[in-house]
Amino acid sequence: MSIEATAPAALSINSERLWGSLMDLAAIGAYEDAATGLTGINRQSLTDEDGEGRRLVIGWMKDAELEVTVDEMGNIFGRREGTEPDASPVMAGSHIDTVATAGAFDGCLGVLGALEVIRSLNDAGLQTRRPIVIAAWTEEEGVRFGTDMLGSAVATGRLSLDYAYNLADEAGLRFGDELERIGFKGDRPVLLEAPHAYVEAHIEQGPVLQQRGLAVGVVTGVQAISWQKVILHGRAAHAGTTPTELRVDAGLAAAQIIVQVRLMVNSGRYGQLRATVGHVRTSPGLPSVVPDLAEITVDLRNPDDALMAKAEADLAAFLAKLADSQPGLRVEAKRMAKTNAVPFSEEIQAVVETTAQDLGYETIRLMSGAGHDAQEMAAITPTAMIFIRGQYDGISHNPREYSTPEDCAAGIEVLGKTLLKLAH
Ligand code: GLV
Ligand code: MN
Ligand code: MN
Repeated sequence: MSIEATAPAALSINSERLWGSLMDLAAIGAYEDAATGLTGINRQSLTDEDGEGRRLVIGWMKDAELEVTVDEMGNIFGRREGTEPDASPVMAGSHIDTVATAGAFDGCLGVLGALEVIRSLNDAGLQTRRPIVIAAWTEEEGVRFGTDMLGSAVATGRLSLDYAYNLADEAGLRFGDELERIGFKGDRPVLLEAPHAYVEAHIEQGPVLQQRGLAVGVVTGVQAISWQKVILHGRAAHAGTTPTELRVDAGLAAAQIIVQVRLMVNSGRYGQLRATVGHVRTSPGLPSVVPDLAEITVDLRNPDDALMAKAEADLAAFLAKLADSQPGLRVEAKRMAKTNAVPFSEEIQAVVETTAQDLGYETIRLMSGAGHDAQEMAAITPTAMIFIRGQYDGISHNPREYSTPEDCAAGIEVLGKTLLKLAH
């Protein structure tokens, strides 16, 4: 496919309006975070708060005269017609669901930034040849139902609707039921027709742009992600009376895995591997009982697919050996999510880069450490991302996550002009 990129007409982003919308959405799901003393956001997918956030954003889309549709996964689309309505649209978006300890920017900046582009086009009375569609994808975070990029992965055909509907959260609530409960089981068929191109703006969530003193960056792709749940089945026993050699301690086995993945990272044998055990639960969870069960999650990231495969294989071998280390221990590993490294379109990266430079922003190219809906869209259409500088070493999935109003406006200005070029 060839991507024409002609000079855009003048477009000016309203920075205060963008900031105001970010802060209004951030008020939904706000909580006082004891660890930081800051106000954090907990608006996990398909909760009441997510429903409220979705309705606020849809209201804004309608105010901006977008035609709003919701698909069978609850993905929200807002379409602005082009002068050639049959031309395939240019799409921009991200997600508005959050982790439990979020700031205001992860995902929301991409959705509300795209909305700000539409509002600015309306203000300027600018028409594009191709339609422009804003997407807000469901359950990008994967923290409630266990699979990340869920809405975009189903829309682009990597995962099935059945798989998604049957996922359940920690309380056993099914995705399909929760989607219906919050009123977002839409009737638009979920399989998405490929748009002309997809561009996602996102806070960087890492330190690179801040270290380099740059407001925006061009994203080259997303690294591989592997999520699994490991369940250790031991035997409950009395903490005071059970001799050490007679114990089958599921908690001990969980701790061994936590240490092992860090040793794997430190070994340097897996390139730029990152490993996180973010969820630990033991049962019965009492001081005087040897745990009969421990459940942990293992999140591995690696920019290199082959080194990721090696890390996964070596971890599997460690788990097999662990079962032998305590007679009676049973180790069960369940796949939650797996994506390979995804390179973005060279053509769209070049459009973003030239656009940013023409606006006077020096840029660099960088790979994304986090997962994004753009990696799913890259399977069906030329795709790229714009990273926007975060503060405080780019901390994210933490209420301290922050990007300045100026940097948000800079990134969304680049998004706007990029979309104008692609939709010309
Ligand atoms: C998405 O936030 C991820 O975990 O990469
Ligand atoms: Mn995100
Ligand atoms: Mn996130």
